[in-house]
Amino acid sequence: MRYVPAEQLEPGMVIGQEIHDSMGVLLIHSGTKLTGDQITRIVYQGMPGVYIDDEISRDIQIKEAVRPEIKADAVKVVHEFFDKIGDNSNLSPEENLIQLMVENVVNDVMADEQVVYNLIDIRTYDSYTYAHSVHVGIISAIIGVKMNLPEDELNDLVTAGFLHDIGKVYINPDILNAPRRLTPEEREEMMQHPAIGYMHLTNEFHFSERVNQTVLQHHEWYNGHGYPNKVKGKDLLLTSRILRAADVYDAMTTKRPYHAPYLPSEVLEYIMGRSGLEFDPEIVEIMASQFAIYPVGCEVVLSTKARGVVVENHPGFVMRPTVKLLDTGEEVNLRDDRMAYNITITQLMM
Ligand SMILES: [Fe+2]
Repeated sequence: MRYVPAEQLEPGMVIGQEIHDSMGVLLIHSGTKLTGDQITRIVYQGMPGVYIDDEISRDIQIKEAVRPEIKADAVKVVHEFFDKIGDNSNLSPEENLIQLMVENVVNDVMADEQVVYNLIDIRTYDSYTYAHSVHVGIISAIIGVKMNLPEDELNDLVTAGFLHDIGKVYINPDILNAPRRLTPEEREEMMQHPAIGYMHLTNEFHFSERVNQTVLQHHEWYNGHGYPNKVKGKDLLLTSRILRAADVYDAMTTKRPYHAPYLPSEVLEYIMGRSGLEFDPEIVEIMASQFAIYPVGCEVVLSTKARGVVVENHPGFVMRPTVKLLDTGEEVNLRDDRMAYNITITQLMM
């Protein structure tokens, strides 16, 4: 299987992994030969790309931290939870469903601890908030597992990841989706969402105080320059510090009304540059060594002008993966092959 950006899809390409819409509905089965109409639909839905199967990529296994069907289920449940908050009905069934989804995600991440994580997310953007929330939960779980958090703390972390932006339900949608810089007054309103979220979670639900506090603190910075309470350093909950970094990572790698998606390398560079300022250095170190810059299955261009597909990442050496060349099928291990020491990756096709 390999990843092909939406604009490079061609009729006849075979889908390698099933495609769901934002409500978890199956759109295209794996094994389907793409038609022109289906490609138009993929592009129209705003999907960044899809996994396809072809000769060169037949042996490439792409392992995601969480199975796609579990992720799709979680997005649906989070979507329903956001829709129902504030309608004053009995919310405990929704609360239990969230807990169940959290357990599914934590179990999947723990079941298969990977050395380097592929964090490409294939998703539609019509309901950004819900897919983003689930993905933040997953990224947080990965960091939490690497930091050996006990299971109850891990569960709280992922729950807070799913619900961190729940306060946005009460923010004017024109401000939320504005494809421009916000005015100072609008920014002020936007900055209310962690406190609003905290208030609703505390008053209407029975999540742990750690979940609620993590939601309250998810825009606080390590150096105390965040909001709303300017808490800093280790006074911030560990779960909040992890959630902050996961939130920024996912928001930047995703297409938004006001920016195109950044490459994983650009996002990690940004996060590393803000280590000790916005982010906890210990967490930055984990992300920099365990998150793939060149995800397995992605096409890259080498300094030799040859094109290839990434087949393996090496822990601690995320800049130097093994690449299978498209024209010869030869595999080049950029970390170990002596002949490859002076070869660099010049482009990632995403
Ligand atoms: Fe937020």
